Amino acid sequence: MKTARMVVDLSFVGVLLYLSSSKTKKNGVLPTRDERKRVTQRKMYAWDPPAAAKSDEIRSETALALSQPHQPFFSFTATETMSGAGKTVCVTGASGYIASWIVKFLLERGYTVKASVRDPKDPKKTDHLLKLDGAKERLHLFKANLLEDGSFDAAVDGCDGVFHTASPFFINATNPQAELLDPALKGTLNVLASCSKASSVKRVVVTSSMAAVSYNRRSRTPDVLVDETWYSDPDLCQETKSWYVLSKTLAEEAAWKFTKDKGLDMVTINPAMVIGPLLQPTLNTSAEAIANLVNGSQTYPNLTFGWVNVKDVANAHIQAFEIPSANGRYCMVERVAHYSDIVELLHKLYPSFHLPQKCADDKPFVPIYQVSKEKVKSLGIDYIPIEQSIKETVESLKEKNFIGGGSSNM
Ligand SMILES: NC(=O)c1ccc[n+]([C@@H]2O[C@H](COP(=O)([O-])OP(=O)(O)OC[C@H]3O[C@@H](n4cnc5c(N)ncnc54)[C@H](OP(=O)(O)O)[C@@H]3O)[C@@H](O)[C@H]2O)c1
Repeated sequence: MKTARMVVDLSFVGVLLYLSSSKTKKNGVLPTRDERKRVTQRKMYAWDPPAAAKSDEIRSETALALSQPHQPFFSFTATETMSGAGKTVCVTGASGYIASWIVKFLLERGYTVKASVRDPKDPKKTDHLLKLDGAKERLHLFKANLLEDGSFDAAVDGCDGVFHTASPFFINATNPQAELLDPALKGTLNVLASCSKASSVKRVVVTSSMAAVSYNRRSRTPDVLVDETWYSDPDLCQETKSWYVLSKTLAEEAAWKFTKDKGLDMVTINPAMVIGPLLQPTLNTSAEAIANLVNGSQTYPNLTFGWVNVKDVANAHIQAFEIPSANGRYCMVERVAHYSDIVELLHKLYPSFHLPQKCADDKPFVPIYQVSKEKVKSLGIDYIPIEQSIKETVESLKEKNFIGGGSSNM
């Protein structure tokens, strides 16, 4: 039993390795994807017929989802659009993938945004923000680094709210302490210290992660429902050298302690793998997961993840700030899917694409599990379906020329 659990828990280490090398190779005769899927599905049915059926729905729902474009919950009326008028908020790490969407939606809603970036002179980090509607009038850039004490004081000063998204999300850390753990943990405390100094700040919304929720010694199988009461186990992260997972786990843990001690109102948003269109000109780690599949990778990883659209994640941040009763943590997963399902969805959407045909290992597929959608509903989030998210990601990757180099998937 313990071994089985570890297979599941080690999955994040796997994706990190996969993301760092898109061309995972495995020679030898392997069962086909369909053969192994049948084995996995037999197991899933044995555990929980409805959950297993859900996995099959991924395929049958594709055509339907795409033929009926998702109607976003957030089609604002004129007054709702301006709910931020007269308010000033700070977004840390504003040039990042998720943060750029938060800044865009905040500006659309009339907020004045104080955006922190590490290098305001780097056009790759700022041009896409400066071009947003409302940026000319209401976007102000601030230079700040997570590792410098007091660095965020000026950006946070006078703000009604703070969205703390800045934290490194990458894989190939040669020095995990300096490159991942310190910026995540010390950086979060640094930002929160600035918030507690600024008496204007009414709430802090922190971008945490499902990485801080589900990596513990509990099994994750189709009958298991992960929710906001779950916490990742730092010892397990350490044992498995899951440094990014550890960075998010320690940062969230420290943030809850700090805000409780200082009486700061904090809400965390805990998304899984975030996909959807990119606003920034650079390739971020989670969009790279899709880019790798369509860019000539021979195999897909034997991993199962939750997936969610970046626009839903950005909107949830703003709702978590605006809705007075919002509190605690919010898990964000539209669908839990194995990489083989993602490949299958890609194939349905882009039949001419050359996609990986086989899994990177010959073990049984890591099973799916469930993630509760109950709490996030109270933020008004009606998730964009995964099919649409994948399509938006690919279209955006094409537009930004992240698809093509060496593969025939143009
Ligand atoms: N994408 C996902 O799938 C996902 C899922 C769950 C949670 N999250 C969380 O969401 C947040 C944003 O992630 P993302 O996917 O949008 O990644 P991203 O595009 O790589 O953005 C990360 C941001 O963190 C900033 N940053 C990193 N180190 C910093 C430092 N020392 N000082 C100041 N800023 C620093 C970066 O600033 P520069 O622009 O200056 O490099 C960048 O703006 C992170 O907290 C991440 O853990 C992401």
